[in-house]
Amino acid sequence: MKKRYISISEAMKKSSGKVAVRGWVHRERGSNKLKFLILRDVSKVIQVVLSREDFEKQWKEIDSLQVEASIEIVGEIKKDVRAPTGYEIRAKEINVVGKSDDFPINKSLNEELLGDRRHLWLRSRKMIAILKIRDTVLSSLREHWRKNSFYEYHSPTILGTQCEGGSSLFAVDYFGKELYLAQTWQLHAEPGIFSLEKIFTIQPSFRAEKSKTSRHLTEYWHAEMEVAWEDFNYLQDDAEKAVKYVVSEVLKNNLEELEILERDIKKLKPTTKKKFPRMSYDEALKILKQKKKMEVVWGKDLRTIEEDKLSEFYDTPIFVTDYPKKVKAFYMKDSENCKKGKETVLGFDMIGPEGSGELIGGSQREESIEKLRENLEADGENSENYEFYFDTRRYGSVPHGGYGLGVERLIAWICGLSTIKDAITFPRTMTRHSP
Ligand code: 4AD
Ligand code: MG
Repeated sequence: MKKRYISISEAMKKSSGKVAVRGWVHRERGSNKLKFLILRDVSKVIQVVLSREDFEKQWKEIDSLQVEASIEIVGEIKKDVRAPTGYEIRAKEINVVGKSDDFPINKSLNEELLGDRRHLWLRSRKMIAILKIRDTVLSSLREHWRKNSFYEYHSPTILGTQCEGGSSLFAVDYFGKELYLAQTWQLHAEPGIFSLEKIFTIQPSFRAEKSKTSRHLTEYWHAEMEVAWEDFNYLQDDAEKAVKYVVSEVLKNNLEELEILERDIKKLKPTTKKKFPRMSYDEALKILKQKKKMEVVWGKDLRTIEEDKLSEFYDTPIFVTDYPKKVKAFYMKDSENCKKGKETVLGFDMIGPEGSGELIGGSQREESIEKLRENLEADGENSENYEFYFDTRRYGSVPHGGYGLGVERLIAWICGLSTIKDAITFPRTMTRHSP
């Protein structure tokens, strides 16, 4: 007869009686008479005890069980305060589904070796907790936009144009022609607002950035939105609501995982309640100068160190707006300042707390074809390749804008990770592309 297996957490809810569970051996220890296993499934871990008396015939097999062997257990569950998670199953039957060799993961492995064994490290309680939070982050981003009448819309990955600067393009040999992996959906999203008005996507973006920092991946998941008719404030409002919603959903659904990660949830709560401060680039420079004695020359982009110092004054993400035109992308709309001779754009970065860096970049889009052409040429681009994009300004152009959120950066901050590499299953960086 087929047994009805339940999850370990369902078994704990039953708290007594006969249960059938299955999973992997997380830890094992034993004596000549007893074997203690910590069994892990997707839901939890639980202690399982096997007594030699009950398993004389199978004892050799049980005694030689190694970490990560897969097993099925039928037994009696009961509360036991001495057991790691408060319950214990006294096994009556065991079926070893898959034996395990010496599992090549242990506490002494450095980051590099753990990276080589990433496919096995994914089974760690840490990675399981992060992956569950990642699931909440992705689904709540979707929910946020769906609730606000956005449509999910997709763009190609193989492109003929840059959008975020030529230096971070990955070239693809496309039947003898050089094309690129998408840095963003943006140039193919803007045409989409003329049909669907409010759109979003969550898909990979690629950056050939030669940065070996804890914030850069070469392939990352990018949650982007683009809207017709709306202004610069709307973009920031929506970005703020999205992040607030994601963090509150994680706090609602993932307290257990945050605890496994030893994340201090007091650091997350303000984000769900307080309004995120908004300041211009000029104001940010003033704060850095007055409070940190850091002098940034007007016109230079904020570096990581400056973003980190700025974030120290706040317990929520902040918006920095109106950056100098020359440090931002060609498609950002000139601010009113430009008329007064100060070259700034309606672009914003959302900078996360606790030195988590730029979580979001967004802007109002320039509508003038002439200005777009000028900006592209100034960047050394051939504007002829952008005719399809200029068409969005030729046929019923409307005010519009959008932003892009780095999914792994948001997850890394929420989980309190020291590197965004742990926010994704198989990270891709300058020095890591396997397994
Ligand atoms: O600021 P970025 O370059 O903006 C864009 O790509 C716009 N086209 C988005 C839009 O308006 N639709 O990138 C957006 C976000 C950054 O704020 C950062 O969080 C993340 O993408 N990001 C990276 N994440 C991981 N690794 C990298 N190398 C990243 N580069 C950018
Ligand atoms: Mg940016």
